[in-house]
Amino acid sequence: MSAVSKDAKRVTTHVIQKMKDEGEKISMLTAYDYSMARIIDSAGIDVILVGDSASNVMAGHETTLPITLDQMIYHASSVVRAINRSLIVVDLPFGTYQGNSKKALASAIRIMKESGAHAVKLEGGQSVKGSIQRILSAGVPVMGHLGLIPQSIYKFGTYTVRAKKDAEAEQLITDAKMLEEIGCFGIVLEKIPADLAEQVSKEIKIPTIGIGAGGGCDGQVLVSHDLFGITKDFNPRFLRRYMNLFDDMQAAVKSYIKDVKSKDFPNDKEQY
Ligand code: KIV
Repeated sequence: MSAVSKDAKRVTTHVIQKMKDEGEKISMLTAYDYSMARIIDSAGIDVILVGDSASNVMAGHETTLPITLDQMIYHASSVVRAINRSLIVVDLPFGTYQGNSKKALASAIRIMKESGAHAVKLEGGQSVKGSIQRILSAGVPVMGHLGLIPQSIYKFGTYTVRAKKDAEAEQLITDAKMLEEIGCFGIVLEKIPADLAEQVSKEIKIPTIGIGAGGGCDGQVLVSHDLFGITKDFNPRFLRRYMNLFDDMQAAVKSYIKDVKSKDFPNDKEQY
């Protein structure tokens, strides 16, 4: 850990702003349950995202759309019970903030009150400005999310790289500046060209956290199940796998089955 994060007993929105100001990269990973969050927090991660990717990796849905507010609160509460140091950001799920700022505030307040998390994240720019402003007015920190926004998958029709064309890139820059101006404490930039992400990161003062957006962002985020290799069939170019837990865990289960079938387990020392 380098200077800013080393000095911080707890990571807050102010700490991650200081990291950007002092040029220290911000590390962020997803977690959805107590045991995984304990491992990730104890390793010294700066930010834990209770992402709505739980809909995919925990529940097996094809998209992030089905996960509910109650389910996100359940995941977030489990993560909160595990952490000592990380900043915990929770995704507002699809349908709980778009087009209705009062509903957005009520959803954010439920997350903060019922889970004990520290901030919320939501997807989109101009179209969700009113929702973000109302949430911020209650003192709830908000992280934005631009570029590939998976809750709008049926509008875009594909998970391919966003903002390659000038018009979309310009809109993204405008949205990023707007999110900064209204008071978001950070922005996730997902799957956009590295040059564009670097430009945005230089032009705004709040931290950008990239996923598939290159090294010019102020921090990086990955879905922890991808990093650990628990997911197997998801292999985008931006993903670096640090383990192949799917194979390792499957091998362990096969050994266990073999030991049970052969009556090797339990042995004399493994019983009362
Ligand atoms: O839900 C999630 O995991 C996310 C990350 C991909 C940034 O939003």
